[in-house]
Amino acid sequence: MGYAAPMSLHVLAFAGALRKGSFNRKLCTLAVERARALGAEVDHLDLADVTMPLYDGDLEAATGLPPGAMELRRRVSGARVVLLASPEYNASIPGVLKNAIDWSSRPPAQVWLGKVVLLLAASPGMAGGGRMLPDLRKVLSAVGALVLPQQVTVAKAHEAFDEQGRLKLETLAKDLEKGVAEALRIAEKLDP
Ligand code: FNR
Repeated sequence: MGYAAPMSLHVLAFAGALRKGSFNRKLCTLAVERARALGAEVDHLDLADVTMPLYDGDLEAATGLPPGAMELRRRVSGARVVLLASPEYNASIPGVLKNAIDWSSRPPAQVWLGKVVLLLAASPGMAGGGRMLPDLRKVLSAVGALVLPQQVTVAKAHEAFDEQGRLKLETLAKDLEKGVAEALRIAEKLDP
């Protein structure tokens, strides 16, 4: 029998991209559908709804965290699992995502601590964002997240989705399904 998540299992999902037609938004939407199909309660966040200025220690000292960063912190805090789909920019993490992680990681509480994270990436290139993922893994590990060894990369992303936004490659769709199920299963094992 397939895995079914308990109703209390809260998941946050977002793409580290602002572009409307983003392939990573598409990938994230598929991950959300999978998590919901498994019974999880999913908060599907649009990073465009929590915009924030570039991190500036003087700004933080003067006025604290900007509203977008506070909101992102609140949404991360409320989840046990985070499904994160990120583009690759110059072989690494897009600035907008790194900035959001930096702001959200500020004291007093480390909201990322113990979150089970599944990393996803889509890119028109052949590596599917795979050169960026070690950097994202390192950063999220540094803020205390438990980043799963499994990850899903979608290469040639401009050709990878059909009209309905589904992954054309069955094996890739299965990998995504397995990755999401594994994230939920591990989170439940850690904190039943
Ligand atoms: C890119 N792109 C890119 N792609 C890649 O596979 N490796 C890379 O190193 C880069 N570098 C890069 C830098 C910058 C500044 C931009 C704007 C783009 C291309 C990138 O993968 C492509 O634009 C994706 O479509 C971005 O992801 P979304 O927006 O579709 O989710």
